Amino acid sequence: MNSKIIIAIDGYSSSGKSTMARRLAKTIGYRYIDSGAMYRAVTLYAMEHGLIKPDGNVDAERLTEMLPEINVDFTLDGDRQFTTLNGRVVEDEIRSLEVSSHVSPVAAIPSVRHALVRMQRAMGEEKGIVMDGRDIGTVVFPQAEMKVFCNASPQKRAERRYEELREKGKDVSFDEVLANVVERDRIDTTRAESPLRCAPDAVKLDNSSMTIEEQNEWLLNLYNSIAGQQA
Ligand code: DC
Repeated sequence: MNSKIIIAIDGYSSSGKSTMARRLAKTIGYRYIDSGAMYRAVTLYAMEHGLIKPDGNVDAERLTEMLPEINVDFTLDGDRQFTTLNGRVVEDEIRSLEVSSHVSPVAAIPSVRHALVRMQRAMGEEKGIVMDGRDIGTVVFPQAEMKVFCNASPQKRAERRYEELREKGKDVSFDEVLANVVERDRIDTTRAESPLRCAPDAVKLDNSSMTIEEQNEWLLNLYNSIAGQQA
């Protein structure tokens, strides 16, 4: 039998990494963790506690003080996984455009990153985990046996995000979504603390012109070849 490994899937926002990571975890019987959901839940907490000013500035000092009071976790309902914030299911709220537009500055705060990285490492202690995010292969699990770095053009990523939001009945314009994708790329790649970058040992995937099924197949093939070498 194969020994369990850690699978790190990083990449740009809306690059399709969560869909692919979730599916792989299900197929191979691993735990899936969406680390972006954890940053989103902390952002929602900051919004609800008045720590994000009308101009978008985050009260980093106050948020740092409040970190011990923030518990982010996941709960399962059948096949579906829901993010919880202090025991409350916040899965829908954390996907709103409001949270999306405030999450990058919150994720740039070093104390927030340290707290979440600690939680993420604890989740991976027993391996058998697929985690997606921005710094999983570089910071959280630099020793991960399998690393993937995903990208797609900003236009394509905005189209995917727009469809997703419209399907959920959100009234957003495509230009708004595209602007959000571009702005998040800028903040995620230029922040001082753990900027988004490709780990030197990650396998790169540009999925601009791939279907979801093609991506799933590509990822499963990669897993099979890596897990085969670990056996
Ligand atoms: O993957 P996502 O769009 O749900 O991520 C939300 C935000 O959180 C994104 O702007 C970058 C940040 N993030 C991060 O800094 N590090 C991670 N490991 C995951 C997400």
